Amino acid sequence: MNSHKNPSTPVRIPVSRITDPRGDLSYVQNDGRIPFRIERAYWIYGVPEGGERGGHSHYVEERLIIAVAGSFDVVVDDGITQTSYHLDSPSEALYVPPGLWRTIEGFSQGAVLLALCSNLYDEVDYVRDYSEYLKLRGLK
Ligand code: TYD
Repeated sequence: MNSHKNPSTPVRIPVSRITDPRGDLSYVQNDGRIPFRIERAYWIYGVPEGGERGGHSHYVEERLIIAVAGSFDVVVDDGITQTSYHLDSPSEALYVPPGLWRTIEGFSQGAVLLALCSNLYDEVDYVRDYSEYLKLRGLK
């Protein structure tokens, strides 16, 4: 799927869930049900109480964010409006398109954030300065 056809705002995407008496299993794969091909996974855990992650935007990278344990809030900011997405289910992913500033806060104790990304890690793709982000959006 081409990125330019993908959603330009965050979208909650249900993830397959297979339940049997042994417990639950969820998965994602490159089968067209997610908007991009996964190139990288990383996960965040051990966030101290009140801790915040993110605080950046991307030029091209697309991302799925899953609360595989616990819960947290993904706050997405287009430079004008902030929208908060509470994630608390291992069977739901939040698609975050490029070009949006995001911070993640309100981590519950023991929360684990899984991120599935469209690109290999490349610092050049990051906008980490909010003023610079507003300039890029033509808002400053
Ligand atoms: P950072 O982008 O600050 O984490 P987040 O914004 O998700 O809270 O990344 C923390 C450090 O880890 C930073 O030095 C970059 C490095 N890093 C990698 O080396 N590879 C990766 O895939 C990611 C996401 C970060």
